Amino acid sequence: MVQATVFLLVLSLALGAHSLSVEKCNLIGNWTNDLGSNMTILAVDEKGNFAGLYNTSVADHPNKIQQSPLVGFLHLTNPIDQPTFGFTVNWTFSEATSVFTGQCFVDKDGKETLKTIWLFRRHMNTTEDNWAGTLVGTNVFTRLKKQKE
Ligand code: BTN
Repeated sequence: MVQATVFLLVLSLALGAHSLSVEKCNLIGNWTNDLGSNMTILAVDEKGNFAGLYNTSVADHPNKIQQSPLVGFLHLTNPIDQPTFGFTVNWTFSEATSVFTGQCFVDKDGKETLKTIWLFRRHMNTTEDNWAGTLVGTNVFTRLKKQKE
């Protein structure tokens, strides 16, 4: 009887650990998009605040591209199931800012996809030029496969 109880306890702990390890859409990790840009979400706190780093593959600015910080919110649901999110990238090599909003989807094979829309705001010198200051577009992100060493 004791042995059976211990066995069931170990089994339930193992299953619990497994379900945690396959939890989807918590955003933490490395992602790549359809332009070849990469981003890393470093941490998501208990309120859904997150921070990370963005390496864009393209730029509107002639300066050398540098890794730039991002901060955002993940809309936490319980369980985490295809949540919406938003984040802002503060470009460190140009006087520009980008905001992204989107949703994490999981397909039948468990593959996660971040479908996003973004606004990119570049610095303009005058209000007359303001009309040309903003671009809009979409990006699709998938998890970056681990590189072999
Ligand atoms: C700049 O050009 O001043 C900063 C880089 C902007 C990169 C944009 S943000 C939207 C789009 N998605 C990307 O991954 N990169 C571009």
